[in-house]
Amino acid sequence: MEVRMANKAGFCYGVKRAIEMALKTSGEKGGSIFTLGPIIHNPQVVKDLADKGINELDCLDDIADGTIIIRSHGVGPEILEQIKQKGLELIDATCPFVARAQRYAKEMADKNLIVFILGDPGHPEVQGILGWSRDKGIVVEKAQEISRVEHSKVGLVAQTTQPIANYQEVVEALQKQGIEVDARNTICHATGERQKAALELAQNVDIMVVVGGKNSANTKKLAKICSETGTPTFHVESAEELQDEWFRGADTVGLTAGASTPDVIIEEVKRRMKELDEMTNGEESMSEAMEVKAPQTGELVKGIVVQ
Ligand code: F3S
Repeated sequence: MEVRMANKAGFCYGVKRAIEMALKTSGEKGGSIFTLGPIIHNPQVVKDLADKGINELDCLDDIADGTIIIRSHGVGPEILEQIKQKGLELIDATCPFVARAQRYAKEMADKNLIVFILGDPGHPEVQGILGWSRDKGIVVEKAQEISRVEHSKVGLVAQTTQPIANYQEVVEALQKQGIEVDARNTICHATGERQKAALELAQNVDIMVVVGGKNSANTKKLAKICSETGTPTFHVESAEELQDEWFRGADTVGLTAGASTPDVIIEEVKRRMKELDEMTNGEESMSEAMEVKAPQTGELVKGIVVQ
């Protein structure tokens, strides 16, 4: 069984940076350290950080002192103000691409423009951008939600993980109304690149395995894209969830991972796949392999390839 890894998969720049900042903080600072919400949507990483003394916090009201790490999704200005008022130490690990969207939203609101924010209204990144837009922000999930707009000019930013087609539809929907749009494409390439690589891979393998948190929006999206190709697709959080029957008779398995999946988990999944392949397809592979012995060395030339 050949395991092919998507050429873009796993941690994106912003997530990697946030985790490195959290680990550096735990190594340098004493006292209590918290992340406001889970640092990423991956339970193993959250647990690993908890073991290092970095705990997750739901609400700033729950603490009186310590250090607060803002995760890559960022927060609105009201949270930053609250941190300041409470005298807490701040480590801001907002992804620079998210910070750029926040900055644009603030600039637009400062110019008194209505700020359309394309994204999932419940997502913390969108909540943060909405905060920077103050009372000027309007969150939409798709172009069809835009009704009659009573302004000659509006602003538009997007959640960094939005599909580009959604963004273009919203720009067109606003322009069709004769509105001037200060449209800032704040979509991050990391998501699109991972989705494209997953799609190409899923079209060329027998089964797909997608690794990442079950509550990670970008991992779920990868799994959806893969399964829509018709290739059987399995979304797992860890190697323990892999089942031998998935791999029975499979010649090629594609592997991809969400932007919040650490390399160590991807490696464990690869290792476990290899074990399961030896257990389920081993006898068959072995007999075939015996038939294709390299003529001079006698080494087996067929077997598992993990790239
Ligand atoms: Fe940042 Fe893009 Fe990742 S916005 S957090 S690098 S998906």
